[in-house]
Amino acid sequence: MTADGATLDGARVLVTGASRGYGAAVARALAARGAHLLLTATDTAHLARVAGQCRDEGCACDLLALDLSSARSVDAAAAEAARAVPRLEGVVLNAGVLGPMGPLDRADPDAIGRAIDVDLTGQVRLLQRISPLIADRAGVVLVTSGAAGRAGYGAYALGKAGLEALGLMLREEWAPRGIRVVAINPGPVRTDMRAEAHPEEDPATVPPPAERVAPVIAVLAGDDPGPRVQASEWGLS
Ligand SMILES: NC(=O)c1ccc[n+]([C@@H]2O[C@H](COP(=O)([O-])OP(=O)(O)OC[C@H]3O[C@@H](n4cnc5c(N)ncnc54)[C@H](OP(=O)(O)O)[C@@H]3O)[C@@H](O)[C@H]2O)c1
Repeated sequence: MTADGATLDGARVLVTGASRGYGAAVARALAARGAHLLLTATDTAHLARVAGQCRDEGCACDLLALDLSSARSVDAAAAEAARAVPRLEGVVLNAGVLGPMGPLDRADPDAIGRAIDVDLTGQVRLLQRISPLIADRAGVVLVTSGAAGRAGYGAYALGKAGLEALGLMLREEWAPRGIRVVAINPGPVRTDMRAEAHPEEDPATVPPPAERVAPVIAVLAGDDPGPRVQASEWGLS
């Protein structure tokens, strides 16, 4: 049991986009609470570094190569997950890309499609493929953004709006299994994606991702705060 009271001893949790940024911070926080991690990303060298940090916390950690833009890769990663663990008590769908920003009518439609493949279509496919592994009463976190549906944010806004709809649908469809599906918006955090979206910003003015992981941990540890959470407001009321 840690200072925040959350224990995840032995809980098997799959995290996408765990090689850096918010996903890596979530992975390290889960490791510190005793979870058994299945970490995924396309860049397995970065992933191995994060896995090393997690193992230093004493947790079990499996690495899975996963490219959400490739149906074949998603299917292979899901099969690999099933070989690694019989059940998942938690899933954190965190991976994402920005894609083309700016007005939609000026964006290359193929580039929009490629971003949505990662931000939405691949996530749907992954959830379908791992659904038999997801335990009753599991926690499923979809990492969303304040940019969901927002003008000027291009493919990213479309993908995140779709991801939030996916969360609402699965929350209802999986309610009989007691699965908590929660969309969590970390808010601005100091990562590669944030720097790409806001090159004018001084990164020192943005909080590090580790300061915004608390609601993810709470959901995986059994809380159900409702369908959508702003991490920056977590614990304030
Ligand atoms: N940073 C913010 O201020 C902020 C604000 C609101 C929401 N978010 C959300 O938080 C999540 C994490 O963002 P971040 O800021 O940590 O971004 P990041 O630093 O760019 O990390 C993105 C992660 O997604 C993985 N990824 C990218 N393309 C992938 C693909 N095709 N298949 C599988 N994995 C892929 C990356 O790993 P590889 O490159 O190794 O595959 C990486 O681990 C995203 O969903 C983002 O929308 C971030």
